[in-house]
Parts: sequence; structure tokens; C-alpha cells
Amino acid sequence: MSDLIRWEKKFKVGNSRIDSQHRKLFHLVNELYKAMQRGEAQERLDVILDELARYTDYHFRDEEGIFNATAYPEKENHCAFHRELIEKVQDLQKRRASGEILITVETLEFLKDWVSRHIMKTDQGLRPYIQIDDAGDTEAVESRD
Ligand SMILES: [Fe+2]
Ligand SMILES: [Fe+2]
Repeated sequence: MSDLIRWEKKFKVGNSRIDSQHRKLFHLVNELYKAMQRGEAQERLDVILDELARYTDYHFRDEEGIFNATAYPEKENHCAFHRELIEKVQDLQKRRASGEILITVETLEFLKDWVSRHIMKTDQGLRPYIQIDDAGDTEAVESRD
């Protein structure tokens, strides 16, 4: 079964901690897609969507913690983008819980597009401010002002 979104080099932002979290986000989007292709019940898709929502929240907090410790100038805008997606997904979850909507291919396309565009357009801007520790540990670059 094919993936909806494939991890490629172009998505790397050069920080092993952030990159591995992004890969996990891709994985969860693909899990949701595959479950849908298998014809799983909406209740099963809800479970995966909940996991994706939790992991997204975790990732955003972690990423914000990393860039807030640097001289990255777009902190506020970046956090606003994150909040926008969190609210959108919470809205989806609420409307699913009330039976108002179904999780559809369009839902998946929205999530895929949001994640890939955010990484390419916004997270890539973090590149000059974050550094990789090859030992696998990541440290934020200190603010220089
Ligand atoms: Fe981000
Ligand atoms: Fe990110």
C-alpha cells in the first residue's frame, strides 16, 4: 500500500531531533491514510487522528522550546502558525465527536499539505539558528545579541 507523503531529503531542517519528529508526523499521516484505504471504521480513524493531534502538539512545543532559545526572529509568527493547525485539528475532532463530519480523503489532503508546506516554508527558516550535535543530542544555538 502506497504512502500519501514520502520523506525526502528536501524536508530536512538540519536538526536531528526536529527531523525525526517530522518523520514521525509523516508516518502518522500515512497510518491514517492506510487505515482509510483499508476501509477501517471512522472510530478507528479517530484513534489515529487523536494520536496525530497529540504528537503534533508535542512536536510544536518541543520545536518552539528549541527556537525560543535562539535568535530566530520569527518566533511569534511561527507559534501562530502552530496554533492555527492545533485549532483546526481540535475543530475536526469536535465535529467528529458530534457526528457532524467524516474523516475523508480531503481531510488527509489538508493534513498532508499543511505539514509539508509548513516544513518547507516555515521550519526551513529555522535552519540558520539550530545546530546538530552528531552524538544525537541537539542543542539550541544561544541568542547572540
Ligand atoms: Fe514549525
Ligand atoms: Fe516542525
